[in-house]
Amino acid sequence: MARVTIFGAGYVGVPTGAHFARTHRVTIYDPDNNKVENINKVIDNDSDSLHIHEKGLIELLQENHENIVATTDISLALDRPEIIFIAVGTPPNEKGRANLKYVCAAAEQIAKNVKNDCVVLNKSTVPPGTAYLVKEIIDKHLVNDVKISVGSCPEFLAEGTAVEDLRTPDRIVYGCDDTEALDKVTEFFLYLHGRSTLSPMTTLSSEVTKYAANALLATKISFMNSLAILCDAVGANIREVQEGVGKDTRVGRKFLNASMGYGGSCFPKDTSAIAEYGQLFSSPLEIIESTILVNDKTIKYFSEKIIHAFGDDLSDKNFIIWGIGFKARTDDLRESKPVQVARELMDRGAHVHIYDTVKGALENFKVENPSYEGKYSVYHEQYEMVNGNIDGLIIGNEHEKFRNPDVEKLENMRGKYIFDGKNVLNNHLIKSLKRKGFNYRSVGKDTVANAVDKTKLIDFLKNQYMD
Ligand code: UDX
Repeated sequence: MARVTIFGAGYVGVPTGAHFARTHRVTIYDPDNNKVENINKVIDNDSDSLHIHEKGLIELLQENHENIVATTDISLALDRPEIIFIAVGTPPNEKGRANLKYVCAAAEQIAKNVKNDCVVLNKSTVPPGTAYLVKEIIDKHLVNDVKISVGSCPEFLAEGTAVEDLRTPDRIVYGCDDTEALDKVTEFFLYLHGRSTLSPMTTLSSEVTKYAANALLATKISFMNSLAILCDAVGANIREVQEGVGKDTRVGRKFLNASMGYGGSCFPKDTSAIAEYGQLFSSPLEIIESTILVNDKTIKYFSEKIIHAFGDDLSDKNFIIWGIGFKARTDDLRESKPVQVARELMDRGAHVHIYDTVKGALENFKVENPSYEGKYSVYHEQYEMVNGNIDGLIIGNEHEKFRNPDVEKLENMRGKYIFDGKNVLNNHLIKSLKRKGFNYRSVGKDTVANAVDKTKLIDFLKNQYMD
């Protein structure tokens, strides 16, 4: 059992701390008194509401209550930790770059208060090289005669599944150029995970790995999204292509789902950050740059399908959006594609009726879209707004509730249009919707509902492929 301290009681810090507390003694430090009190109340079984919504997190904190505490007291936080994780925010600044001011502030606080040798690992998403900067700041402000090694330990958890991701990770990446410190970190993780899960490396490799992992996942999605547009054009079905390609274990089936584009707090931010970083070091990352371009193109392509069906002026139109978060089961609207669609429709005069399974997502929509007040309504029941005034339904995320809609209720809509932004409806359902007069639009499988124009395709081949 080691003593560890986590700087930052945020989305990464709290789940990570709760997970480490299974086998280690953890102190979470944050200057925000509300957050700290909140966490301690949950740990002490005095409350069951947290500022972070993650399935299983409250239970995990309570299960490990003997090993975890949160504090605003820096001297308590730095009471003999062997490893310190910095997990503070790195919000993008006006240039879209990770702002390192909180990371640097944490480094200075550590330097001024630490009284024993320890390893500092950065968990926040930062440009490669930041660990060296942190080390420089610590060395400059160090008060006591102690040895501090600095490295990197990026986080790969996804929103909504953070607790499970932490419990059964595919891999733990960490890097430190000081091999003695690296061994110490290995020992720490061996209490929690098997050796084959661990990927120790150099500091810079670890920092690059974080961006590389997110950018590659985003690239898989954009790759499929550009093929989805081709599938629509020629009449193939992207879902079938995904299966055919993804069953090759060298490729892998995950993150091949074509959609109206990826959103969230990581992929858009991290792809832009590493693409810009590559440019700064005269090593342009052309593939990642294309990933970003394709993502922008895909959401436009999807929105155009709606505009194409109804025209530019949508002033007397009403649309339903099921799912407004950037993915299912989150209240997070950052870079949410359904939000972008909603704004596009409202800008063109439409009224948008929004339902999400997460109440907080609806609340956040209201808070973040004050200028659209009066142009949208929010609902807490999935079918409450389905009536004769509705022109079309847009499916915004992959929640199970949207996969098998009650078609009888949808038949009350005056417009028989379903725009499936996440390709969640199955072929059987789409065909039966088509028989009932519905128009189905998706990203790459429209021809499930619309016959392929084989003659056009044959003529094209005859003209272009035979000399
Ligand atoms: C992601 C990474 O998965 C995680 O490892 C990293 O630490 C942070 O970024 P997250 O942003 O929470 O996690 O969500 P994720 O489930 O990865 O989805 C990101 C976006 O891609 C969502 O908009 C999702 O709908 C979209 N997506 C995902 C697709 O469009 N197709 C897919 O096949 C998978």
